[in-house]
Amino acid sequence: MHDPTSPHSPPRRIGSWTLIATAVAVAAVSFGYVGGWLAPHRLTPEKLVNQLQDNAGTFAGYRRNHAKGVCVMGYFDSNGGAQPYSVAQVFEPGRTPVVGRFAIPGGNPYAPDSSVPIRSMALRFAQANGQQWRTGMNSMPVFPVATPQAFYAQLQAQQPDPATGKPDPAKVGAFFAAHPETAAFLAWVKTAKPSASFATENYWSLNAFVFVDANGRRQAVRWRMVPEAADAGGHAGKAGDADYLASDLAARLAQGPLRWHLQVTLANPGDPTNDATKTWPDDRRTIDAGTLVLEHTEPQDSGSCRDINYDPLVLPAGIAGSDDPLLPARSAAYADSYLRRTSEEAHLPGTAAAHMPPEKTR
Ligand code: HEM
Repeated sequence: MHDPTSPHSPPRRIGSWTLIATAVAVAAVSFGYVGGWLAPHRLTPEKLVNQLQDNAGTFAGYRRNHAKGVCVMGYFDSNGGAQPYSVAQVFEPGRTPVVGRFAIPGGNPYAPDSSVPIRSMALRFAQANGQQWRTGMNSMPVFPVATPQAFYAQLQAQQPDPATGKPDPAKVGAFFAAHPETAAFLAWVKTAKPSASFATENYWSLNAFVFVDANGRRQAVRWRMVPEAADAGGHAGKAGDADYLASDLAARLAQGPLRWHLQVTLANPGDPTNDATKTWPDDRRTIDAGTLVLEHTEPQDSGSCRDINYDPLVLPAGIAGSDDPLLPARSAAYADSYLRRTSEEAHLPGTAAAHMPPEKTR
């Protein structure tokens, strides 16, 4: 036992203080490293979100990407098909309430719907046991790049030139030339047209995830929402209406609910789970896990989706993240964007504070 009166006590105490001081210093250095302060070239969530703002402008109260959107409410009817692979309650036969959001990519909430050929669907499944599954999906089968660093470089290359208000084609060309992994996305984008409806789109998880069954067995998966509504081939939307996606959605829902099938694709051993630029071969087993039913919308400025962060790593037991490096980067960047937007008031178009230059919010 330690005797405080012993002549050996003082040096021992000094020893333990030194240990504590060393431990504190190590902790401080680790925090500094994790925070990026000691690694100035490290890509941080803040840098990613600042770059999104540099490209699109800063719109107080809005998401820094996929800023233009609308809330949707409904439920998921599971048929039990995914239950052998995942213990997530959402896959037990039965109904789980859903709060979702349709959007288009880009940081400008007033962008015309025809400005991009991509649409997105984000969903929050609220399981009865209190756990949630949040997912954000895009209407293309592959992502342009595989890493957060390459995504950052792409955003930098696409930043509008102040002289023209448009990206510099030379910089954009140089980026794609230096990133051959973008080929599959570029091939898709060549034929993609801005669709006239959220309702007729397929939405892909793009990133891989892992289902975990009752025995702890892990199965890599990707999923896709497949619409029941057929694409009538229209794509331009109504002439003169920059917001045709929201009006189309309201008109369709006035006729009745919209439905998608949750298709879960199971990877074979060796299929890449860390590269969203690569699809898996077509013959991989795909399960229909149930039907998503969307019934009504709410405006995004006041609706139930406004204060949801559709962080792709908020997952219930039975679904886990994969080794895809985009996933932790997404999670961190969405949190940063969420903190910015929820600490600001959203402003209506035309009001002075609606569009703040990026430097004002740094
Ligand atoms: C490193 C890569 C990425 C970064 C930095 C990034 C960044 C962001 C940010 C900052 C937001 C706004 C979040 C908020 O304020 O709630 C957002 C939204 C979104 N992102 Fe990403 N993203 C990335 C990759 C992806 C990928 C691979 C997908 C694939 C499906 C995706 C799909 C979406 C969707 C669907 C939304 C809208 C969510 C909503 O409606 O609230 N993103 N992204």
